[in-house]
Amino acid sequence: MKEQLLLIGGGGHAAACIDVLRLSGIFSIAGFVDPALEPGTNCFGYPVLGRDEDLPALARLYPNAFITVGQIKTPTVRMRLFATLAALGCNLPRIVSPLAHAADSANLGAGTIVMHFALVNAYARVGKNCIVNTRAVIEHECHIGDHCHIAVGAVVCGNVTVEDGVFIGAGAVCRQGIHIGAGAVIGCGTTVLTDIPAGTIFTGKKC
Ligand SMILES: CC(C)(COP(=O)(O)OP(=O)(O)OC[C@H]1O[C@@H](n2cnc3c(N)ncnc32)[C@H](O)[C@@H]1OP(=O)(O)O)[C@@H](O)C(=O)NCCC(=O)NCCS
Repeated sequence: MKEQLLLIGGGGHAAACIDVLRLSGIFSIAGFVDPALEPGTNCFGYPVLGRDEDLPALARLYPNAFITVGQIKTPTVRMRLFATLAALGCNLPRIVSPLAHAADSANLGAGTIVMHFALVNAYARVGKNCIVNTRAVIEHECHIGDHCHIAVGAVVCGNVTVEDGVFIGAGAVCRQGIHIGAGAVIGCGTTVLTDIPAGTIFTGKKC
């Protein structure tokens, strides 16, 4: 029998995660925790089991948990949830869509998801609690920190270093070998040719 997985966060990113989880077939979805949803109701066809304050009790029932909250401008919510679940002793699995590819030599941290048609190439490292979204490419030997979101169709060329808590927007292209500092936000559709300091919101415009 499949092990059950508790999902944390019932927004749009969760819908996409459900499709990956169903296709990968490793876990069955127990239900959702979300402070904005009424316990006992339904979310994308699965029961809402409780709110954040119910996590200690739910974690005893469901030791496997996965964060399905999305992340754009700030990783704060996902970071807080990750710390809470880790402190409760939850198992935070790595999820790789069967339609994606992560090289044998690549390394993925706990709680990270690689979504449909994404690629994590040879010797790349992706930290904990990251989203490698649909059709994103992380090329050879990249180092991606913890709590990062590489959004749909973004391309991170070889040997790029991305520090913790970075968001790289849809379709952005990051030139090989550059360094993106912690907490940076890279706007969708941008081309990043040089290093980006920590905390920068990069939209391609000259400041
Ligand atoms: C970078 C981003 C977070 C900035 O959002 P914001 O702070 O709300 O900024 P605004 O939309 O108010 O735009 C501020 C200015 O920057 C420009 N700008 C914003 N994002 C831009 C981008 N990606 N490329 C070029 N210009 C951009 C806007 O045109 C605006 O210019 P103006 O001051 O001349 O009018 C947002 O544009 C973005 O890229 N979001 C990510 C979308 C995405 O990838 N989603 C994927 C989910 S899987």
